[in-house]
Amino acid sequence: MNSILRVNDLKTYFDTEGGIVRAVDGVSFEVEAGKTLGIVGESGCGKSMTAYSILGLVPQPPGRIAGGEILFEDRNLLQLSPRQIRAIRGNDIAMIFQEPMTSLNPVFTVGEQIAEAIRLHRGADRRDAWRRAVELLELVDIPLPEERAGNYPHELSGGMRQRAMIAMAISCDPKLLIADEPTTALDVTIQAQILDVLRRLQEELGMGLMLITHDLGIVAEMAHEVLVMYAGQVVEQADVETLFGSPRHPYTRGLLASVPTMSSGTGELSTIEGTVPDPVSFPAGCRFAPRCDFAVEACGRPQALLDVEGSHVVRCAEWQQVMQEAMA
Ligand SMILES: Nc1ncnc2c1ncn2[C@@H]1O[C@H](COP(=O)(O)OP(=O)(O)OP(=O)(O)O)[C@@H](O)[C@H]1O
Ligand SMILES: [Mg+2]
Repeated sequence: MNSILRVNDLKTYFDTEGGIVRAVDGVSFEVEAGKTLGIVGESGCGKSMTAYSILGLVPQPPGRIAGGEILFEDRNLLQLSPRQIRAIRGNDIAMIFQEPMTSLNPVFTVGEQIAEAIRLHRGADRRDAWRRAVELLELVDIPLPEERAGNYPHELSGGMRQRAMIAMAISCDPKLLIADEPTTALDVTIQAQILDVLRRLQEELGMGLMLITHDLGIVAEMAHEVLVMYAGQVVEQADVETLFGSPRHPYTRGLLASVPTMSSGTGELSTIEGTVPDPVSFPAGCRFAPRCDFAVEACGRPQALLDVEGSHVVRCAEWQQVMQEAMA
């Protein structure tokens, strides 16, 4: 396995008046070069904070890294100075945010912004940087890239802005690209196009891609490996075929059951009852137990990640029982 990123037992907490918010609570995973890791889970389960922790973007205080390590090319990013992290961010590791307007500066043209990123990180001269910026806009399928490079962000549609963001993110040939809900704000047609661009770039450039989404449909199409998060923890991990073909955790099964499919016909879509527990006071045992149809007494005890088969792991001691009941 050719991992470029290894996260071990990461804990990212927030000290709040109400108590300690355990946003990320002992999360481990790896991202391979040229592969896509999909991270899914309901709102608030810690997906974005996992990404922010990698990039040193957790607001501190109230946030703090309470434990773990983040190894990127065998350097622990958590031990680097802010300056060293800045040198990696936007260079070896780039990120695309959900809302491009938060990352694009309204007073500069998109060409200028991409060129500036190239000059800063690469030391290219103005002409070369501009030429590269136009090439990048072309690479993300922006029509008439020379002209578009001269546009301000507000002059572009949402889909075009997101493409420009991707162009900027890949401008320095990152080894790892983190995309946090990159298409949530876009309509489905544009979303599919953007995902195509991402997939093509990931293959062509051999980047590792960490794709954060609440949309399992996107995961099915894009990911090689999938991490399911719940209440700050990984509850299941498997390769994409296994996760969709034989999900084990009741939470994963619930998420899958709530995805519309062509065959689900009359719209009998199930939802998972209840809500995510308060992150200041997670249940002592399985954090999903209060919402789980299959919960038994043993679920009141903390659950470890258990091996199922190969790289497939699940945080549910009862999964065999769950499977039997689900089949019955
Ligand atoms: N500044 C903060 N202070 C306190 N708690 C915070 C802060 N930022 C985030 N959190 C908490 O951390 C937890 C994880 O948040 P995170 O943004 O990672 O969720 P997410 O999985 O990305 O959700 P979404 O799908 O809505 O983007 C949440 O419970 C959130 O309320
Ligand atoms: Mg988020």
